[in-house]
Amino acid sequence: MIRVSDSYVPLLRRPFGAHEIGKDRIAILYKVVGKATKILSSKKKGKMLDVLGPLGNGFNIEASIVRAPEGRGRPSSIVLVAGGHGVAPLYALAKQLLASSHQLSVFIGARTKAHVICEKEFKKLGAKVYIATDDGSKGRKGLITSLLKNRLRALEIHKAVIYGCGPKAMLKEVGRIAKAKKIPCQLSLEEYMACGTGTCLGCAVKTRSGYKLVCKDGPVFDSKEIVWQ
Ligand SMILES: Cc1cc2nc3c(=O)[nH]c(=O)nc-3n(C[C@H](O)[C@H](O)[C@H](O)COP(=O)(O)OP(=O)(O)OC[C@H]3O[C@@H](n4cnc5c(N)ncnc54)[C@H](O)[C@@H]3O)c2cc1C
Ligand code: FES
Repeated sequence: MIRVSDSYVPLLRRPFGAHEIGKDRIAILYKVVGKATKILSSKKKGKMLDVLGPLGNGFNIEASIVRAPEGRGRPSSIVLVAGGHGVAPLYALAKQLLASSHQLSVFIGARTKAHVICEKEFKKLGAKVYIATDDGSKGRKGLITSLLKNRLRALEIHKAVIYGCGPKAMLKEVGRIAKAKKIPCQLSLEEYMACGTGTCLGCAVKTRSGYKLVCKDGPVFDSKEIVWQ
């Protein structure tokens, strides 16, 4: 949660995911959409920021290790599905997963070619990248979830794990596809956040075990847990 200004406007911190995680620093990747992100983008290099975090949970990487009967771990085929700025935290995840030599397929959905981010970076990591844009200016025309459904047929899905981050409608469909194919799936949810620490209850989402807070219990949930509304 980042406070971008010392003044009362904007009063609330804004949530961001970790895009790169270093020993003593993190990088965020963000899109300018309103007041706070505009102020953030005007900060000069070296300027100190008031940051609260890391908060909540992260993706469970253990879930991507398929356990052989004798107990030895074997990396599985990883599928990352990103919509819009959902790419940001999935890149950090990709770096960690590739360190344990997983096979990585990355699906990026965006409005237009200009909105596709991190394609080169994922490719540099050795990932296979699939792209879909709403207007067809890059990759397949249409929804990234349609492309995902097609490509999953070609992947060894019996040992696949899906991780997703992006808009709610996309995540809901990713969860539906994963359920239909019986693939384990973790989704990072986005909700408006005021406190980020579990106090205001503003980010509650319905799950099979009652309401949970995206800032504290999430943002990552097992897709089977989420009750979509
Ligand atoms: C857990 C989490 C992680 C996030 N990670 C990133 C990230 O890594 N990179 C990034 O660019 N953005 C990320 N976001 C979104 C980011 O927090 C918002 O874009 C930011 O708060 C907008 O602030 P603003 O004052 O610039 O815009 P505002 O004036 O607050 O809003 C501008 C527009 O964006 C919409 N908007 C703002 N926040 C949200 C939200 N949480 N969900 C849906 N729509 C919203 C508003 O409806 C409005 O239309 C994340 C959000 C969450 C909850
Ligand atoms: S943002 Fe306040 S409880 Fe989650």
